Amino acid sequence: MNTNLGLNIITLVTLLINLTPALVKSEEGIDVLLPISLNLTVLTDPFSIYTASHDFGNITDQNPGAVLCPSTPAEVARLLRFSYGGDSTSTSPGFTVAARGQGHSLRGQASAPGGIVVNMTCLAKADKPAAVVVSADGTYADVAAGTMWVEVFEAAVQRGVSPVTWTDYLFLSVGGTLSNAGIGGQTFRHGPQISNVHELDVITGKGEMVTCSPQLNPELFYGVLGGLGQFGIITRARIALGHAPTRVKWLRILYSDFLAFTRDQERLVSMANHFGVDFLEGQLMMSNGIVDTSFFPLSDQIRVADLVNDHRIIYVLEVAKYYDSTTLPIITQLIDILSRTLSFTPGFMFMQDVPYFDFLNRVRNEEDKLRSLGLWEVPHPWLNIFVPRSRIQDFHNGIIKDLLLNQTSTSGVTLFYPTNRNKWNNRMSAMIPDEDVFYVIGFLQSAGGSHNWQDLEILNNKIIQFCDNSGIKIKEYLMHYTRKEDWIKHFGAKWSDFLRRKMMFDPKKLLSPGQDIFN
Ligand SMILES: Cc1cc2nc3c(=O)[nH]c(=O)nc-3n(C[C@H](O)[C@H](O)[C@H](O)COP(=O)(O)OP(=O)(O)OC[C@H]3O[C@@H](n4cnc5c(N)ncnc54)[C@H](O)[C@@H]3O)c2cc1C
Ligand SMILES: *[C@@H]1O[C@H](CO)[C@@H](O)[C@H](O)[C@H]1NC(C)=O
Ligand SMILES: *[C@@H]1O[C@H](CO)[C@@H](O)[C@H](O)[C@H]1NC(C)=O
Ligand SMILES: *[C@@H]1O[C@H](CO)[C@@H](O)[C@H](O)[C@H]1NC(C)=O
Ligand SMILES: *[C@@H]1O[C@H](CO)[C@@H](O)[C@H](O)[C@H]1NC(C)=O
Repeated sequence: MNTNLGLNIITLVTLLINLTPALVKSEEGIDVLLPISLNLTVLTDPFSIYTASHDFGNITDQNPGAVLCPSTPAEVARLLRFSYGGDSTSTSPGFTVAARGQGHSLRGQASAPGGIVVNMTCLAKADKPAAVVVSADGTYADVAAGTMWVEVFEAAVQRGVSPVTWTDYLFLSVGGTLSNAGIGGQTFRHGPQISNVHELDVITGKGEMVTCSPQLNPELFYGVLGGLGQFGIITRARIALGHAPTRVKWLRILYSDFLAFTRDQERLVSMANHFGVDFLEGQLMMSNGIVDTSFFPLSDQIRVADLVNDHRIIYVLEVAKYYDSTTLPIITQLIDILSRTLSFTPGFMFMQDVPYFDFLNRVRNEEDKLRSLGLWEVPHPWLNIFVPRSRIQDFHNGIIKDLLLNQTSTSGVTLFYPTNRNKWNNRMSAMIPDEDVFYVIGFLQSAGGSHNWQDLEILNNKIIQFCDNSGIKIKEYLMHYTRKEDWIKHFGAKWSDFLRRKMMFDPKKLLSPGQDIFN
């Protein structure tokens, strides 16, 4: 396909459309005309609408009325003020508005059916080169919310600094992960990304531009962190930074014994240990799934595959230790201690030595591989849950052994690692189990081949059902509930706070309708 030609036509169409006011639908389904006096350029061309109606999940398809590609936060504020309609008593156009970062949602969470999707990438681009500004002392950066984490990295590392806590994948927007939590292998030590924010600029559902922090407008600040886009559109975030290491010792350590695996994982994430690893995760390798041995040295790959086949399941502990040339001797010592004190299957500890960025960006390689096989743009019925540590044995027996290992085949990656609760602030909207240590478990399934997404979704439901029946008090992450009672159960004691904040900051329920919490 000649993409150049395609783009030119789209640009032309866009230019023509920009001259006419756009029609959007109010929540009651009434057509609303955006008045010229708003001076907003919205896109209604088929390409923009198509893009904004799809997401990574590749399951839902929700057309917005139009897409706003703003160049200043003031435009977003104008849009929301217009939809809100002045004060709470006046009649308002009341069309919905959803910020969209990278659209890596799974179930249309960034969509606004009939309403307006705000393309946060446009704001970040318009802000360049000021989209990421590192402070003079290098302790924080002010970041446009539409910026991707990989761009935050690029700007920070030039100054020898870096965010301290990451998601596994860097091509996610700052505003998108802060609306959920932003978790990964550094969370046990530094907390999730929402715990590493000093200040936010937010445009509320009333169209007010508000700066908030733990001291200033704390209700809005804590509400928005993990707030699923319900209280405002984040336009800027002040992100904590630390020293950027240059290199990483990256280990994968194999266990055939689940108890030994979890015991070692829990020891390593306990703050009382002497190991001080910088990153800890874990995943499963199952003989009824795709056994990816590409991490391991070529000469060991068959040995690893055989181990998986012999045991049907192998638990992979993944740890990383950062270093610079001066700290290398300490690292060598640490790895020696790990190899002597961990109870892994003898002979199955493997290490790579990589630049810091290559380590952080590891999932991009997986993406490239999957893309080349046509396996990236496929349905992703992912299930992410947090499981209290006290029930992890029961979970393993009921779900991993009895359910997953009993499937003829499994699809995708299964993440399995513990993290600490003490770095999460209970005032934030994000929900986690009520236990000091809980496991992050991600069933990152892809449809394709013999799996259609509906069947995979049935498996997900069985997992949730098992937990319900066994009284395992999980919390879902990146969830999509459609029934109000599920949301109320999810937020538990925090539901009344969530509701109160909604009434304060978005009383007309305009924001992020794709989360399906209030409609
Ligand atoms: C390959 C892959 C790997 C992932 N790995 C991890 C991981 O390791 N850890 C983890 O925690 N998550 C992970 N995720 C999930 C990811 O954090 C969420 O999907 C997140 O929402 C993605 O950001 P986004 O910019 O694509 O958000 P979008 O899908 O665009 O938006 C998500 C939600 O946030 C709202 N929103 C977006 N921007 C703003 C804003 N500026 N202000 C207010 N609300 C906003 C949207 O309206 C929507 O409701 C992964 C996802 C993928 C696809
Ligand atoms: C409309 O917005 C553009 C920027 O998007 C600005 O340059 C222009 O001055 C605005 N016009 C009016 C009448 O405010
Ligand atoms: C958002 O804007 C970016 C940059 O202009 C563009 O590449 C992307 O396709 C847009 N997304 C949507 C949903 O319109
Ligand atoms: C899923 O992705 C394919 C390939 O990009 C696309 O053709 C299809 O429209 C998408 N479906 C949904 C529901 O997003
Ligand atoms: C495994 O599946 C078979 C066939 O569906 C079933 O009979 C058996 O009970 C299952 N085993 C477990 C442990 O669930």
